[in-house]
Amino acid sequence: MSTYKEVKKVTTHVLQAMKNNGEKISMLTAYDFSLARIVDDAGIDVILVGDSASNVMAGHETTLPITLDQMIYHASSVIRAIDRALVVVDLPFGSYQGNSRNALDSAIRIMKESGAHAVKLEGGQEIQDSITRILTAGIPVMGHLGLTPQSIYKFGTYTVRAKEEEEAAKLIEDAKLLEQIGCFAIVLEKIPAALAAKVASEINIPVIGIGAGSGVDGQVLVLHDMLGINNEFNPRFLRKYNNLYEQIKDSISEYVKDVKDVDFPNEKEQY
Ligand code: KIV
Repeated sequence: MSTYKEVKKVTTHVLQAMKNNGEKISMLTAYDFSLARIVDDAGIDVILVGDSASNVMAGHETTLPITLDQMIYHASSVIRAIDRALVVVDLPFGSYQGNSRNALDSAIRIMKESGAHAVKLEGGQEIQDSITRILTAGIPVMGHLGLTPQSIYKFGTYTVRAKEEEEAAKLIEDAKLLEQIGCFAIVLEKIPAALAAKVASEINIPVIGIGAGSGVDGQVLVLHDMLGINNEFNPRFLRKYNNLYEQIKDSISEYVKDVKDVDFPNEKEQY
């Protein structure tokens, strides 16, 4: 099955080799030391320190409020936990859209202060200069097209993107541009499966999908969603591998009861 399982450190070159050899890339988010250690030990290829931390860690409605300092805090916690995975960090809203100098400064801060291996930016042709400038500093860049949550107030909803021909054509054009300027991979979020498969077959760099079907080179999910920690988020594309909300809640209820009943600690659990 997996031919790259034995790789000690996943690099952007390993991901490219996986695409070339037809092996799918696995990617999940993580934001803290303890869960990142489990994710890495389980053999994930890429850990994304996503700005979805704004939602699942901080409880914000959108990804817009999270700051560069907060992303660096999450990224450095993850980096301390991992041995094998490639760690990619989202540049947060407002840290790269202003101008390319601003984008480079933000990317350098992430790499220097967290020890991450790459950054991810949302957008295509509009942020071409920023991506190019970051790349010239030797920082690997992952692109992100389709549903780009930092633009939620422009889109108005989190529904599927690029269903219309014009938006689909722009997405294909942007994907080709990102490849041409030197991105090492692209995330495609919530777009029709046929369009995602077309992009993955027309560009040579890895295409990682979320809500983009199986015809791409890898898959990414938000860790808290796939573990069922967040039981209010149930989009069609999400497969839940656990129901940790219930399991954690039951464990805590049991603990509360044991404390109230003076059942915990027992004789063996004290000095
Ligand atoms: O921030 C994030 O978690 C992401 C994924 C949804 C790809 O960008």
